[in-house]
Amino acid sequence: MPDASNLSFARDIRPLFTETDVAHMHAMMDLSDRDSVFENADAIYATVSNGSMPPPSSGEARWTQEMCATFKRWADDGGPA
Ligand code: HEM
Repeated sequence: MPDASNLSFARDIRPLFTETDVAHMHAMMDLSDRDSVFENADAIYATVSNGSMPPPSSGEARWTQEMCATFKRWADDGGPA
């Protein structure tokens, strides 16, 4: 796992979202955009960590604990670009 102080949106966070995720959520937020993801970080973290997003019906895998933890540390770190 990357060191907390070294996390970056472009390298560590953007790749957590598939093109399907970006397309389906675009009406609500832009998962490909750092500012949009940071503004919605609490809600995103809640849904990925409880398994409701991405929806099981989408066929996508549930986020692992490591993915959720990396996302949370990035958000807690102030969302470095
Ligand atoms: C603020 C957090 C979020 C809210 C309130 C939210 C809400 C929703 C709603 C209402 C739908 C349509 C109904 C449904 O299919 O269940 C949906 C679909 C979807 N969301 Fe989210 N979502 C959030 C975050 C995310 C995140 C972080 C991801 C990916 C990691 C994601 C991936 C998807 C996908 C792939 C679909 C399409 C499912 C399908 O049609 O098969 N969403 N979301």
